[in-house]
Amino acid sequence: QLIRREDYAAPAFWIRTVDLTFDLDPAKTLVINKMTVEPNAEQPGAPLRLDGEDINLLRVLVDGEPVSFRTEGSQLVLENLPQQPFHLEIRTTCAPEKNTQLSGLYTSSGGFFTQCEALGFRRITYFLDRPDVMATYKVTLKADKLKYPVLLSNGNLVEEGVLEGGKHFAVWVDPHPKPCYLFALVAADLVRREQRIRTRAGKDHLLQIYVRAGDLDKTEHAMNSLIASIAWDEAKFGLSLDLERFMIVAVSDFNMGAMENKGLNIFNTKFVLANPATATDVDFGNVESVVAHEYFHNWTGNRVTCRDWFQLSLKEGLTVFRDQQFSQDMAGSRSARAVKRIEDVRTLRQLQFPEDAGPMAHPVRPDSYVAIDNFYTATVYEKGSEVVRMMHTLVGDEGFRKGMALYFERHDGQAVTCDDFAQAIADANPGSELANRLEPFKRWYAQAGTPRVTARGSYDADNHIYTLSLSQRSAPTPGQPDKAPYVIPVAMGLVGRDGRQINLQLEGHLNSLGHDTVLVLSEPEQTFTFVHVPVEPVPSLLRGFSAPVVLEAEHSDDALFTLLSHDHDPFNRWEAGQQLALNRILAAVRGDGYIELDARYLHAMREVLRHPELDAAFKELVLTLPSEAYVAEQLDVVDPQRIHTVRESLKRQLAHALHEDWIWAWEQFHDNGAYSPDARSAGHRALANLALAMLVLDGSLRQNPIWPGKALQRFKDATNMTDRLGALQALVNAHAELAGPALERFHAQFKGEALVIDKWFTLQATAPEHDGKVFARARALMQHPDFTLRTPNRARSLLMALCQSNPAAFHRTDAAGYVFWADRVIEIDGINPQLAARLARALDHWRRLAEPYRTAAREAISRVAARPELSDDVREIVTRALQD
Ligand code: ARG
Ligand code: ZN
Repeated sequence: QLIRREDYAAPAFWIRTVDLTFDLDPAKTLVINKMTVEPNAEQPGAPLRLDGEDINLLRVLVDGEPVSFRTEGSQLVLENLPQQPFHLEIRTTCAPEKNTQLSGLYTSSGGFFTQCEALGFRRITYFLDRPDVMATYKVTLKADKLKYPVLLSNGNLVEEGVLEGGKHFAVWVDPHPKPCYLFALVAADLVRREQRIRTRAGKDHLLQIYVRAGDLDKTEHAMNSLIASIAWDEAKFGLSLDLERFMIVAVSDFNMGAMENKGLNIFNTKFVLANPATATDVDFGNVESVVAHEYFHNWTGNRVTCRDWFQLSLKEGLTVFRDQQFSQDMAGSRSARAVKRIEDVRTLRQLQFPEDAGPMAHPVRPDSYVAIDNFYTATVYEKGSEVVRMMHTLVGDEGFRKGMALYFERHDGQAVTCDDFAQAIADANPGSELANRLEPFKRWYAQAGTPRVTARGSYDADNHIYTLSLSQRSAPTPGQPDKAPYVIPVAMGLVGRDGRQINLQLEGHLNSLGHDTVLVLSEPEQTFTFVHVPVEPVPSLLRGFSAPVVLEAEHSDDALFTLLSHDHDPFNRWEAGQQLALNRILAAVRGDGYIELDARYLHAMREVLRHPELDAAFKELVLTLPSEAYVAEQLDVVDPQRIHTVRESLKRQLAHALHEDWIWAWEQFHDNGAYSPDARSAGHRALANLALAMLVLDGSLRQNPIWPGKALQRFKDATNMTDRLGALQALVNAHAELAGPALERFHAQFKGEALVIDKWFTLQATAPEHDGKVFARARALMQHPDFTLRTPNRARSLLMALCQSNPAAFHRTDAAGYVFWADRVIEIDGINPQLAARLARALDHWRRLAEPYRTAAREAISRVAARPELSDDVREIVTRALQD
């Protein structure tokens, strides 16, 4: 059933302390939960309704006495309770080894792990499973000592010892009151890397990373990232670690990336383990940002948490913003920062823009949901981060720091709302653009959909006046037919055709604004008049992507070439290059499907590639064509095969026309000496790998074995995974004959490394489609002994890769892709609804598909929707997909 934000009411009781005892057994774990409960004086006499799911109730005691109770649905209802604080004891059992949903207490590789956000704690014990109920926890773990030598929970270890029958125990106390979604325990056979640090504040802390025995050599990067995160939060915001001990645990079965449990972060192995031999530069970057993200949650999430789950972006949007800023600071140079920003925007456009344009469109602060797990989305996370970034832009870096300080001064220890956050940032900056327009600004939280901003400029050469008109409009989204205007910060500058950055001065203002300013668009349409503009300029708008909007600047090719070669804003330079490619792709897709790249475009790409000053990482981004998903975003009717064909053709031309330049780039960048994951050397590897892929592509097409042969050699000799995988990827993309044996060799070499085997599945599922071979191969891989649907990483490595990342293989005129998709969604739903619901979203955009795809996709979705026994998670996705 639908849960609505407007129905929020405070709980009838508070739970102040929790004393939990676990007798851990995979088949039947006993949980004794002793709570002190306090009636909420504002709701006297109300019954206590505790949430529970998939657990067996043994007994209920109030102040030591058995009481009568009833169950209503999944709730345990207690009435006639004392009107003063009382003790409540509840005993239940659960079966961790049967918990394939990976929510609550479950087993993985023989150990016990928990995941409680959002609603997993109710699968452990009866509780007020809502984030506004905060308690202090004491946790006693009992388990077999040989099988589970490590016993962990939140907070500080206060006691441990042996018990009869080969068991041992540990007692943990967490002094910080927390909502139950931050509870965690681990009991497993693990080893650890640890380090003691002393922070600026002069306090000593113990940092530990727990992994399986073979993985210790993959923990150094995570430890370095954690230490850097701790230092950054102290230096940047004055937020220090508030625990003596901070632990990270890696687990291979995990639904999401990681979880910020107080003092005991639990991570998907993919986002903590990395060494040069098994992880790519992208993996290293992800580890750094996820470690930071979870650490930053200790303040933005744990010390100040969410009042209810509609406020999820309060912690997630803010924490993504913080981890993005952190990674930019770690990257260092201005150009490396821009590279990180470009990557983040690419993700936003690839994942969030389509979400905002489809059946799952929802505001950053949703108004209703059926399954909250379906709302851990790109909108709540990535767009939520953009909303925080806009506040940062409107109040400035120092103003934002002040705002954060006020936020913690007001709300430390509380469960609050997105309004509270925005209010604190605005109140700390009276007179700022944010404070002056706070109410309309907050529409970013309330309205779904991506606004479109149109820009039109005109130059009055006689009077040296440049007039810029900006207008905004927002299309309807499900349940929101009309939208009010947004407050949109438009960072901008004016660039002369000769590359000169023009001094900005608005009409009627005495001061020059320099070369860079932020215009605030808050009306449906506004005009800005610049004076003393000596030459006709090209406007460089939305610099650094200052707002999550679609900009329609209607630049001519001339203007785009000017920006590509001269804009001082690296983001807009990249953007101009993408726009040039996009315009060409779209013309072909809308036209006869044919495209021949013009000399001017090729020349510009060559200039970028050979540029003496630009960073390799930046060049790689410019020379990489817009993704098929991003191209599809621009079209009302999407023919995935046609988009694929056009983009491939453009890629081949780029490979051929720039042949000599790719060789040059390869020569320049392919030999990097000892591996280091820093931004600069990662950029060199990225560009070398792109060059190699282009050379192999061109070589294969022309039956020239030289570059395919070099790639094979590189694959064999590489000393790090980035280069090895880059070479293998180049072969898989262009040279099936060499790729086959190379893939076999890769599997044999890494068969013990689960995260590398995931890559092996993904490589095959994302290979270029020829005559249905990839699709058939993916089906066959489901039978491979290494394949399982129970481990989300593995299931995603094959299924998401095929259904989401390989449109040419997935969208078939015979509908076999959709039939396969529907079968898998149904099959996985019986195992893990959260995972099934993610896969279910692969057909979100079905309505915009061309025929025959559209009809076939609708049939597949309808077949899933017709199943009577679907989980709430999948039902919500398919119901929304089919709604008109
Ligand atoms: N709070 C976690 C993070 O973003 C995500 C946990 C989500 N888990 C879930 N089952 N929805 O850091
Ligand atoms: Zn998070």
